[in-house]
Amino acid sequence: MALRTLSDFDDKKFDGKKVFVRVDFNVSVSKGTVGEDYRIRMTIPTIEYLTNRGAKVILASHLGRPDGRDNDYTLAPVAKRLSEVLDSRSSTKVRFAHDCIGQTVENEISKMNKGDVLLLENLRFYKEEEVNDKGFCEKLAELADIYVNDAFSTSHRKHASTYGMAKLVDTRIAGFNMRKEVEYLSMMRDNPIKPFKVVVGGVKIKDKIGALEHLLPKADKIIIGGAAAYTFLKAKGFKTGKSLIDNEHLSWVSKALSTYGDKIMLPTDHVAAMSPADTSITMVKGDIPDGMAGFDIGNETIEQYSAEVGGTKGAGMTFWNGPMGMFEVRAFANGTINIAKSMALAYWRGVKTLIGGGDTLEAMKKSGVAENEVSHVSTGGGATLRYLAGDEMPGVAVLYEGW
Ligand code: 3PG
Repeated sequence: MALRTLSDFDDKKFDGKKVFVRVDFNVSVSKGTVGEDYRIRMTIPTIEYLTNRGAKVILASHLGRPDGRDNDYTLAPVAKRLSEVLDSRSSTKVRFAHDCIGQTVENEISKMNKGDVLLLENLRFYKEEEVNDKGFCEKLAELADIYVNDAFSTSHRKHASTYGMAKLVDTRIAGFNMRKEVEYLSMMRDNPIKPFKVVVGGVKIKDKIGALEHLLPKADKIIIGGAAAYTFLKAKGFKTGKSLIDNEHLSWVSKALSTYGDKIMLPTDHVAAMSPADTSITMVKGDIPDGMAGFDIGNETIEQYSAEVGGTKGAGMTFWNGPMGMFEVRAFANGTINIAKSMALAYWRGVKTLIGGGDTLEAMKKSGVAENEVSHVSTGGGATLRYLAGDEMPGVAVLYEGW
């Protein structure tokens, strides 16, 4: 069943109403300036749809994991960035409230006209947010005539703003980005278009096991790179030198190899070095010598992986999560750059391509691939993997309740 989104309602429903929109503006902020603003831009369709229909839009988000009120985690820089983005498209100004509940917020709301936007201060300045405290839920719910959730990337959290308060507001609606995320990820998880290929990199296997257990039986090919590959290679009996190994999950990896080995692709050569700072890097085939670690997939592997990812024509679906190597260091970035370019090529050839996980978007951009060269870039990191694993998503489930 599809989630109900804003356009499923009559326009008049939003006119003059206080619409509380849970967004995920948990973005990188350095010295008061927002870095990657993809999550902010992805909420613009929802915000503008509502302002154009006369709503008073109240935005709420967390930022980081502060221990109570801490100005290092203020959302003020985000309000500034959002204002710039909205202002360049319309005359909408964003006001900022220095709290997320109470008198300060009520005063700000009382000054709002139809079509205005107000961003509340970081929800996590109150520890009550994360424990889904009843009183805190009630205070948030008092601010809203209508509840909208456009924060897929935080919908795995059962927090006051993602779950508890929603239950207290009669009308709960999915924002446009929330619906798009759920549609794409459900299609991939439950009914992927064939051939279905999964590219997995990054460091931690632990976070990906749930998703892999769901995707392994459905995928036609699983292409493994990044530090994750060394754990797979070790399980196959290769020497991996000083490469990062997830020993805790070696037995899971061995089992996956024995069940799905015929569709799992592993690197056959590597860019190895003594340390990330070592400039005398070596291309090694097969075993990685003692004292050295693998930091990227090698040229032969790049060729095989690029042919597999970029070679699908006309149909199919490919998901990419996690860089192929330590792409922050230029000498170890080639694998990631080539996978990103192959993903773009697959997209232009008609494959539905999906990218998930914060560092994968960064890797894609560093590789010179644009957001519009991918069918869908998920805003989620942990949430995307949890959704693909079939885990409970309280922030999504609550939007279905009470129909
Ligand atoms: C994320 O960045 O993955 C989401 O904003 C959730 O953040 P959290 O892991 O701190 O709850």
